[in-house]
Parts: sequence; C-alpha cells; structure tokens
Amino acid sequence: MSKREQWSSKTGFILAAAGSAVGLGNIWKFPYIAGENGGAAFLFIYLICILAIGLPILNIEILLGRETQKNPVGAFKAIHGGDSNWRYVGALGVFASFTILSFYSIVGGWSVAYTLEALMGTFDSFVIKNFSPEYGMSSPKVAGEFFDLKNSNPSWVLGYHTLFFLSIIGIILSGVKGGLEKASKFLMPILLFILFALVINGLMLPDSDKGIEFLFSPDWSKINASTFLLALGHAFFTLSLGMGAMMTYGSYLSHNDDIVNASYMVAFLDTVIAILAGVAIFTVVFSSGYDPTAGPGLVFHVLPPLLAQLPGGYIFAFLFFLLLTIAAITSGISILEVSVAYLVDELKFSRKKATIIMGILVYLAAIPCALSFNLLQDATIPIQGKAFTFFDVADFLASNILLPLGGFFLAIFAGYVWGIDSTVKALLKGDSGSLYFGNSILNSSTSKTIFGLLIKYLSPVLIFLVFLYQFGWI
Ligand code: TRP
Repeated sequence: MSKREQWSSKTGFILAAAGSAVGLGNIWKFPYIAGENGGAAFLFIYLICILAIGLPILNIEILLGRETQKNPVGAFKAIHGGDSNWRYVGALGVFASFTILSFYSIVGGWSVAYTLEALMGTFDSFVIKNFSPEYGMSSPKVAGEFFDLKNSNPSWVLGYHTLFFLSIIGIILSGVKGGLEKASKFLMPILLFILFALVINGLMLPDSDKGIEFLFSPDWSKINASTFLLALGHAFFTLSLGMGAMMTYGSYLSHNDDIVNASYMVAFLDTVIAILAGVAIFTVVFSSGYDPTAGPGLVFHVLPPLLAQLPGGYIFAFLFFLLLTIAAITSGISILEVSVAYLVDELKFSRKKATIIMGILVYLAAIPCALSFNLLQDATIPIQGKAFTFFDVADFLASNILLPLGGFFLAIFAGYVWGIDSTVKALLKGDSGSLYFGNSILNSSTSKTIFGLLIKYLSPVLIFLVFLYQFGWI
C-alpha cells in the first residue's frame, strides 16, 4: 500500500483548513442569519459560541485525526478498538458528508451560474431606476423572479450543480498535496483579496455607517433562546465541525505538527472573514435603503441589482459571485474528502476509485435537492410547522441534527472516554515553532482547567439543551 499523503507544510494545512471553514456559511448564511436575528446581538452570541465551544471542539477534531492518521471511522477504531461502537459516530460523519454536500453543491452551482450571469451583464436588467415603494416592483423583486424562473428549469439547476461538482472531484482526484493543498494555497489569497476590495468599496458608499452600526451595535431585546440555538448550530457549520472534516484534514498532519495554534488561526480567519463579508454586504444593502432581513434570498435576490447599480457595479458583482464560488469550492472539497478518506483507509480503495465511487453516490444524493426548486417542489414534509423540501430537509438534518450530534459525541469522547488529561497532553505535544502565540495559552494549569470544563461540561450540556429546545421539549 502506498504511504498516506501529508500536507507539505503547516501553512498548507492552515490554508486548507481555513478554506474548509470559510465557505457559503460565511458569505451566504452568516449575513442573512445575522440580518434576521438582530445583527450585532446575534454576532455577540455567535462569538461566544465560537470561543467557548467551537474552538475547543476544533482542537479535538484535528487532534483525533493527527493522532490516528485516519478518517473518522478509522480514528475512533484506532483509539477505542476495532469493534467499539464509537465507530458509528465516525459513520455518522460519513453520512453527514453526503447530506451536507447534497444541498451545498446546489448553492455552489448557483454561485457558478451567477458568476457567469454577472460576466454577461445580466444584473443590469434587474435595476429599476427611480424606485419608489408605491411602485410595488423593486429591483430585488425583479431579481428574485429571475432566480425563481431559472430554478424552475431542472436542467439549469442540475447543469450548474454538475459543473460545481466536477470541479470538486477534479481537485480531490489530484490528492492531498497536489489537489486539496494546492487549490487552497491558490484560491484563499484570491478570496481574501476580493473580500478586501468589496469591503473597501462598501465602506466608501453613502450611508455605509448604517450597515456598520447594524452589525456592531447590539439590540439586546432581539436575543432569546432561539438566537442561541442558531448561533451554536452556525458555529459548528462555519468551523466545519461535527462530521470529521477537520479530523480528516488533521489526519494529513504529521505527529509533531502543532494543533493549538493552527486552530486559533483557522477560527480567527473564519470569524474575521464572516464579519468582513457582513460588512461588504450590509454596507451595500443599507446604502441602497433596503431591508437587511431578507433571509436566504439576501445574496441571490437582493445583492445582484444593488451591486449592479453601484459605480463599477459590473466588476463588483462579478467579484462577489467569484468570491462565493471560491469559498464554496474550498469547503466542498473538505466535505467530500471525508467519504473518500473513509474508502481509502477502511476499504483500501485507491484515491481514484474512492473519489469516483463517492462522487457518483453523492452526486445522485444531491439530485432530489436540485429538483426541490422545480419538479419536486411540492414533495414536502412538515418540520416545525413549515413545509420542507428535500433541499430544506438536507440543510436542517445536517445543520440542526447531525453536526451538533457529532460535536456532542466528540466532547463526550475527549472528555470522558479518552479522558481530558490524555487529550490535553496529546494536544500540547505538537511543536508550535516560534510563529503565532506559542502553546503557552493552553499550557498553564488555569487554561487547562478551563479547557476541561468547556469540553466536559459546557459543550455537551449546551448542545443537549439546544436539542431539547429544538424539538420543543423545553
Ligand atoms: N464550513 C463551511 C462553510 O462555512 C462548510 C463546511 C465545509 C462544513 N466542511 C464542512 C460544514 C464540514 C460542516 C462540516 O460553508
């Protein structure tokens, strides 16, 4: 058997892991969830969730991968014995990778489609000059109708989904160094560059301060239990936690690679990029006098015409959707890599065979999600009082059930089964080098105690409460 591949450098790992974390969650989801839930008030709770729960669990996921050099199923088997039931937690991760990618790649497909539409100048036709509310037809409404019309055509949705999917498969086929790492090293700097350009452009618009205020001055009356539920769920999603994606990426580290500092870097980059995306989007929304609470349609309905009518709008609209596409690709690869690594490690498939088999299976699983906007739009089931299509079910199942469940088990595993002392000891083993903060942050006995409390008590209890709340049991 050929030797398991590894990242060529720590920076390569950090960029790939940050590429996984920074995705549609940051640019498509975060701004609309924040918009619907009071802006800064949501941001505040979200930051607490990232620091208190997301970061410790991120450490543990990467650690389990590095220690075992295995995919999630193999990782639990390696630490807890081959017939341990913990392997089912790993299997849950493999299942979650199907579920997430099935809706994720549809949104990825939309991003590709909109990048091309922006290039063709389509968004100009959405702009209604001299808009007045009595007129009844706003630019975002025209854009929304365009979006719905396109989606009513199954081959449009499926076609772009296929294009997006093929790009992911292509990268995975090229391996860890030549595919995952190379793509992230190439794409992440472009992503940052585009984001800065969009933020600067946003800040120079008239009334941009209203957008900033929305994002940074909290209205505490907006906070309730469901804000918390959303913030925690989103913290998991945005850090790619709970299904073994970070574990799989961690498994390509070498035994003495540092984890603690790498986790800070990844969480930091992810959070800063989400906030910058919020700035880029809300400055545009507020400067045009629109409502920030547009929901999932914020990016595809509201933004295209608003961007198009700015000075230089053609280029900014194109850059925005290119940004979204890049973010979706570097995340999509990490989702599929979990299932591919499973076949490679456990069933000894070659990477090529594993990628093709899993690619086909996940592709098929995504078809009902693609058809949720046309042929299958009436095939719904009621969840929490709303009619959910396949697409909605996949998103709900992954974000609200599978990921928190995975996170819950990870915390229990590290805190009680493997034991917090062994966990912390293994975490500190890595060589942090002189870069970043050094391991000192986790090395004092106070911070070890805090870490233990977060993993053993706070994380499992909060995740459990979130579950009870979600199903209406409390
Ligand atoms: N974190 C990515 C985002 O914010 C999505 C993602 C990639 C993901 N890999 C994951 C989510 C694994 C959960 C699990 O868009």
